[in-house]
Amino acid sequence: MAEFKIAVIPGDGIGPEIMEQGLAVLKKVSEKYGHTFHTTKLPAGGNAIDSMGECLPQSTVEECLKSDAVMLGAVGGPKWDNVPGNQRPERALLGLRSALGLFANLRPAIMHKALAEACPLKKEIVSGGMDILIVRELTGGIYFGERGMRQGRYGTEAYDVEAYSEMEIRRIAKVGFEAAQKRHGRLCCVDKANVLESSRLWRKILTEMAPDYPDVTLSFLYVDNAAMQLIHDPNQFDVIVTNNIFGDILSDEASIITGSIGMLPSASLSAGTLGMYEPIHGSAPDIAGKDLANPIATILSVAMMLRYSLGLTGEADAIEAAVTKVLEAGVRTVDIAAGAKSVGTCEMGRLICEAI
Ligand code: IPM
Ligand code: MG
Repeated sequence: MAEFKIAVIPGDGIGPEIMEQGLAVLKKVSEKYGHTFHTTKLPAGGNAIDSMGECLPQSTVEECLKSDAVMLGAVGGPKWDNVPGNQRPERALLGLRSALGLFANLRPAIMHKALAEACPLKKEIVSGGMDILIVRELTGGIYFGERGMRQGRYGTEAYDVEAYSEMEIRRIAKVGFEAAQKRHGRLCCVDKANVLESSRLWRKILTEMAPDYPDVTLSFLYVDNAAMQLIHDPNQFDVIVTNNIFGDILSDEASIITGSIGMLPSASLSAGTLGMYEPIHGSAPDIAGKDLANPIATILSVAMMLRYSLGLTGEADAIEAAVTKVLEAGVRTVDIAAGAKSVGTCEMGRLICEAI
């Protein structure tokens, strides 16, 4: 039995309703295994702009830093589209990743056998299911590089710089190599080394590090080819390690192969045990408040939190098994129903809790 302090950021759009289901699962785990989770709800994103005048209040950052882990729903929405770029709700997410030092983003793309019907690829391509781990660098590259506007010869120019230091590449590569060691021993670095200098530094460093991981087979792929290979033959991949922006794009692509972006959880990890756990999807304002959102990505993110930040492996397994069981029983939210009968957000959450 253990006690933990969890910072909870429901966010905007469908964020609060999927978070409610994530918290229900956490409550079920606490009842069943006798742990205590002290949760504190915090503002960030559009709701924080409305209530506190800024997307990421310092008090939210401080509370997260004092916690064992952070759970996040989703941020953003059309309401804040006209807010200046550096104050948009999405800045809260980037600010949290940076302030908490969350440089390693793990995005497992696992296709549940029960969801084969929801996969848009031909059956023979994913007949054996799919299980890929995308390791995305999260606090560097073009997301955090120098940016600005200047007057050029042809009018205003805007620029965003993709820059990576050796230290940043080395530490994310280490996460990639170690993940491959624990899985099937294959690591593919996705880059654009035929064009970008930064990608060539990634290749150089990973090649240097490879001899330290003799049990891992390292390969490289250009990102355009990787985007194609992912739909051509997703199972050729085991672990993909890549920069911030390519990881953002490829993880959405991988998610739809699993049936729906509503299925994919993520863990954003620091050098210590503090991590932030969130579904990879956005705030889906079009379906917010309608009990339509799929809570599974959030619920699986809770499992990742128990595994990576809290050391509760058995409890994490129990959540994942409950999700599989409910899917195998044929329960679907609308995004994965492929036109068949579906249940709402709350009912999906309730059935998963019941199965734990
Ligand atoms: C993600 C999202 C974010 C990102 C947005 C909301 C800033 O797309 O977590 O994948 O680009 O990192
Ligand atoms: Mg994204």
